[in-house]
Amino acid sequence: MRVITQKTVGDASVLEVADVATPVAGPGEVLVKVGAAGVNPVDTYIRGGGFPALGEPPFTLGWDVAGTVEQAGEGFAAGDEVYGLLDFPGTGGGYAEYAVLKATSLVKRPSWLTLEQAGATPMVALTAWQALGRGGVSAGQRVLVHAAAGGVGHVAVQIAKARGAYVIGTASAAKHDFLRSLGVDEVIDYRHQDFTEIEPVDVVLDTVGGEYAERSAGVLKPGGVLVSIIPGNPGFDVDRASALGIRFELVLSVVASGADLAALPQLKVQIDHAVPLAEAAKAHELVESGRTTGKVVLVP
Ligand SMILES: NC(=O)c1ccc[n+]([C@@H]2O[C@H](COP(=O)([O-])OP(=O)(O)OC[C@H]3O[C@@H](n4cnc5c(N)ncnc54)[C@H](OP(=O)(O)O)[C@@H]3O)[C@@H](O)[C@H]2O)c1
Repeated sequence: MRVITQKTVGDASVLEVADVATPVAGPGEVLVKVGAAGVNPVDTYIRGGGFPALGEPPFTLGWDVAGTVEQAGEGFAAGDEVYGLLDFPGTGGGYAEYAVLKATSLVKRPSWLTLEQAGATPMVALTAWQALGRGGVSAGQRVLVHAAAGGVGHVAVQIAKARGAYVIGTASAAKHDFLRSLGVDEVIDYRHQDFTEIEPVDVVLDTVGGEYAERSAGVLKPGGVLVSIIPGNPGFDVDRASALGIRFELVLSVVASGADLAALPQLKVQIDHAVPLAEAAKAHELVESGRTTGKVVLVP
């Protein structure tokens, strides 16, 4: 089968096509013929050598997979349309024509997700689901989501709305109509507006990092929660958080759970670009631009 591999860490040009043996599913696992594989910012960090602990080249990146079950087993029939997440951390293996997933991390693809949307969904939706859960987002709360038009942000705003929250999202002005179409109640053009001037909120989801954690703390109500998903972020000073009467939560590792995927509300997953597998380098460059709306997927 064809996969994307890399012999060394480096820029997107290190990604290349290779022919390897098709993997075999072991006990508790399912072999999936990949129809779409999501590309996440963390893939680009690992490709570049930012997380040597997760694996040394050669490896195949990619955690998000949607496709069809190749062989029956573990409660799935051959031909079932499925989607799920490969084990994280590690380096994944979804940029390939076939991938082996744990049966417990895989669910049937719901009719409201196309193949490409399903391939784009697992990591961002599980990240958003688990982060909003950590923040305890519930009906009537005010929730601020940063980079609300990004991969994580655009599903986070929908999950928060489904929980009955009042949702405020930051994005550049050209993306505000998109945010409103997702149900966002209040939009902030972060390039021209200071987000700290909004009325206090119960939860902030920080998907940007750096000074955003510190500044976001200032918009929380006493007892509020600041949830950050930024790897490499030094994080927020926990003592300072408790002095402010807020809680700081760092959610870095996504736990693959079919139960969580099955519990997701009906999401509108935006595909910024669907790129042929062989053009994985182009897909990485798009994600590294930091300007995409929704998700980039690879299509074998
Ligand atoms: N993908 C995941 O599942 C996951 C999991 C854990 C952690 N993370 C981390 O979370 C971060 C976001 O991930 P992602 O997948 O959502 O990224 P992404 O899709 O690449 O984010 C792109 C979006 O970020 C927006 N943006 C950039 N700077 C902004 C700012 N200062 N304020 C508001 N919006 C801004 C851009 O909108 P404009 O063009 O309008 O600026 C663009 O729409 C990354 O650092 C990633 O490593 C991601």
